This record gives sequence, structure tokens and C-alpha cells, in this order.
Amino acid sequence: MTSAACIIRAALPSDEPAWRELWQGYCEFYETRLPDQVTRRTWQRILDPDSQIMCIVADVEGRVLGFANCVVHEATWETQAVCYLEDLYVAQAARGQGIAAALLEWLRNAMRAEGWARLYWMTRRDNAQARRLYDRFASADDFVRYVIRQK
Ligand SMILES: CC(C)(COP(=O)(O)OP(=O)(O)OC[C@H]1O[C@@H](n2cnc3c(N)ncnc32)[C@H](O)[C@@H]1OP(=O)(O)O)[C@@H](O)C(=O)NCCC(=O)NCCS
Repeated sequence: MTSAACIIRAALPSDEPAWRELWQGYCEFYETRLPDQVTRRTWQRILDPDSQIMCIVADVEGRVLGFANCVVHEATWETQAVCYLEDLYVAQAARGQGIAAALLEWLRNAMRAEGWARLYWMTRRDNAQARRLYDRFASADDFVRYVIRQK
């Protein structure tokens, strides 16, 4: 894919149907079903400039084929904000063409432009396809995740 064909930009209200379809694919990938109320609230926060949640999309000739949802937040080890890449997804038929790499590259540039101290994310240990890509951007560290759920 030529870089001219793929535009990375902030999500717009008109992207909702495409984003929702990709979001559903992402949830299926993680074998999870989120209540529609959660999806609605996530989308609302994406569009809300006062929310810490942001979303960039990959627009290929007018078709939204991938997204990255991020949370920009304060951190105790930094004076600047940091950016957590929470969700990354590319439509199955559009994979292997560098779309996810373009989304990551955009975020890396935004980190420099916005002055975020770091951009970070996690993935499943066995997500080989994602990790092959991620290894080109950074090295995985040895932290493990602990979670306590309310229910
Ligand atoms: C991980 C994911 C975001 C990568 O998206 P992508 O746009 O295909 O990524 P890229 O094209 O930038 O890079 C993917 C790598 O796989 C290779 N690849 C080749 N053919 C491929 C194919 N048919 N499908 C996927 N990847 C392929 C790419 O060449 C590239 O590796 P390389 O550059 O070292 O050769 C996408 O596979 C996806 O959405 N997976 C399901 C959800 C997921 O795992 N999200 C990340 C978890 S946090």
C-alpha cells in the first residue's frame, strides 16, 4: 500500500458505523461480548474532546479499515502525560498491508508532538502476528498483569 492511500486521522462522528463494525470484530477476536451500553459510552467518549479516550482510524480511500483506541493519562513516574494504546484492530481483509504499522507510527509521532512521556500497550503473549509487528517498534518488558474484578 502506498502511504498516500492510507490516511490516519482522528475519528469523526460519521465513522460510527465503520468503527462499530470493526469494534465488533475486535470483540469477537477477544471472544467477548460487551453490552451495547458500553460500546455506546466508549464511542461517546471518543468524540468528547474533554475525555481522556481518543481514537484514530485508518482511512483507505474513504473506507475506515482499522482503528486504535487510546487513553491519555497522568502518571506518577512522569511529569508529562502518557498514552496507553488500549485497542488496535485492522479488518481481516486489509491485514498485512501495513495499516497497523501506520497507526503505531502516527501514535509515535503524536507522542513527540504532544509531549507524552511514553506510549505503551500490552498484548497476549501468544499473539504472534501482533507481536511480530510490535517487536519492530519496541521491546517487550517482563511485567505481568494482575486484575481484580468487581464481578
Ligand atoms: C495485529 C493487527 C492489528 C495487525 O494489523 P495489520 O494491519 O495486518 O499489521 P501490519 O500489516 O502493519 O503488520 C502485520 C505483520 O504481519 C504480516 N502479514 C503478512 N500477511 C499478513 C496477513 N494476511 N495478515 C496479517 N498480517 C500479515 C505483515 O507483513 C507484518 O509483518 P512484517 O512487516 O514483519 O512482514 C491485526 O492482525 C489485527 O487486527 N489482529 C486482531 C486483533 C489484534 O490482535 N489486535 C492487537 C492485540 S492488542
